[in-house]
Amino acid sequence: KHVPVIAVDGPSGSGKGTISQILATKLGYHLLDSGALYRLTALSVIEQSINPEDKKAVAEAALNLDVVFEPQPDGEQKVLLDGEDVGVKLRLDETSAMASKIAAIPELREALLTRQRQFRQEPGLVADGRDMGTVVFTDADFKIFLTASPEIRAERRYKQLIEKGVDANISHLLKSIIDRDERDRTRTVAPLVPAEGAFVIDSSQLSIDEVVQQILDFMGFSE
Ligand code: C5P
Repeated sequence: KHVPVIAVDGPSGSGKGTISQILATKLGYHLLDSGALYRLTALSVIEQSINPEDKKAVAEAALNLDVVFEPQPDGEQKVLLDGEDVGVKLRLDETSAMASKIAAIPELREALLTRQRQFRQEPGLVADGRDMGTVVFTDADFKIFLTASPEIRAERRYKQLIEKGVDANISHLLKSIIDRDERDRTRTVAPLVPAEGAFVIDSSQLSIDEVVQQILDFMGFSE
């Protein structure tokens, strides 16, 4: 039986996390935050002092992740790594930088493929990431590509961090967003590009509700 997938790809801070959560909640679908898997692997690499150049060891760390995603009533997901709530650690700059560094390792991407595809369960899945439409779910029913200017994305990330009680510096964030974009776009495996036929939305000047509405319209779902 065909289980529908909505692939939502784009750079960090484009709003795809929030939008994907809202879509999943509205449609009653499962949610895959694939970036969390890269971040979780990054956290394991950091905490277990694994050499990030050791591709096999990094892929191994991904296969050994003991992780539980607990959907919360507000649509957020609690992430437990070895039983520990790592919500804040996952968002730290150090973790983000390590995630984007190791994300260029083909062995790691391969190791995470099966894990990501396991999220595809009835009644459907909203998959949030960089390569959901281009690699992981090439047969997705709908492919969305969300973008926004780097400045707007840095501002959004800043607010997000402050809300979580994490100290942040906006110019530093902007620089790390630009660096990370560059790495994600130019890597040879699964570079960040819109999938063929993707519905591309620039959310810089749009509210969250407007973006959600555009996506629902695109999919032919009316509220
Ligand atoms: O989406 P998020 O910012 O949490 O992702 C963290 C990092 O993981 C990204 O910078 C990117 O390098 C990597 N990633 C990826 N493919 C995905 C999701 C995330 O390469 N599908």
